[in-house]
Amino acid sequence: MQTVETIAALRAATGAWRQGGERIALVPTMGNLHEGHLHLVAEAKRQARRVVVSIFVNPTQFGAGEDFANYPRTEEADAAKLREAGVDLLFLPRVEEMYPGGSQGMSFVEVPGLSDRLCGKVRPGHFRGVATVVCKLFNMVQPDLALFGEKDFQQLAVIRRMTRDLNLPVEIVGVPTVREPSGLAMSSRNGYLSPEEKTRAAFLHQLLLRIADQLRAGQRDYAALETQGEHELREAGFAPDYLAIRRASDLEMPDTGDVELVVLVAARLGKARLIDNISLGLGLV
Ligand code: PAF
Repeated sequence: MQTVETIAALRAATGAWRQGGERIALVPTMGNLHEGHLHLVAEAKRQARRVVVSIFVNPTQFGAGEDFANYPRTEEADAAKLREAGVDLLFLPRVEEMYPGGSQGMSFVEVPGLSDRLCGKVRPGHFRGVATVVCKLFNMVQPDLALFGEKDFQQLAVIRRMTRDLNLPVEIVGVPTVREPSGLAMSSRNGYLSPEEKTRAAFLHQLLLRIADQLRAGQRDYAALETQGEHELREAGFAPDYLAIRRASDLEMPDTGDVELVVLVAARLGKARLIDNISLGLGLV
């Protein structure tokens, strides 16, 4: 595995592959890699001849008071995992390489509407930072496809919309969430949980499964399900940011005829802010 820190070195490597007609996949990450990331890499290897992984803790997607400074940085261990997984190239840029003019007054990519609800409402500017850095990575790597975890359902929707709206020639692939045996979705932020909190955090997935069952059973009072779910989260010791039932295609409020739904949750437990979701197609039932 080759490791490069500059855009010039990255372009030299990917340019040669492209000239040789090799299909290139990109897996963008912020490092602190877990089984979920390695699933993205495995899927990337299935779909492309060359796999590029980027590790960049992107300052523009963190708000004031969020965990940018403390975000776990484990580059050596990450590189070992990626080498073992058969990644071709690790792109490990410094902040100055990604944002040479600083991030004040720079050009941004905005995906309006979709970015402003749910997590975007609680973390203003977050999806602008995500869309911008992903767009920059697409320009740098020029991959044929890019892979993202479905755990970050809203992020995936924002990236799909940006790619469509800006005619970026990149296929966006969503990869199913990888879970602990308890059902807890794997996340770099699970490291903030104490062992007791980690056990309790499995409640998020159980709650989503139960709400999905209620929807499948014909319950259509979405507001009542959301209120009851948030109540249960508080009872279980979480501080919920939201529990929401949305139309899967655009995260708008569903009407009773919509069949492709997603139930999304974001809640704080101790020092961790956890997110999870479950998609369901009622048309198939
Ligand atoms: O999901 C993440 O790790 C990040 O939001 C991403 C997509 C790498 C952009 O910084």
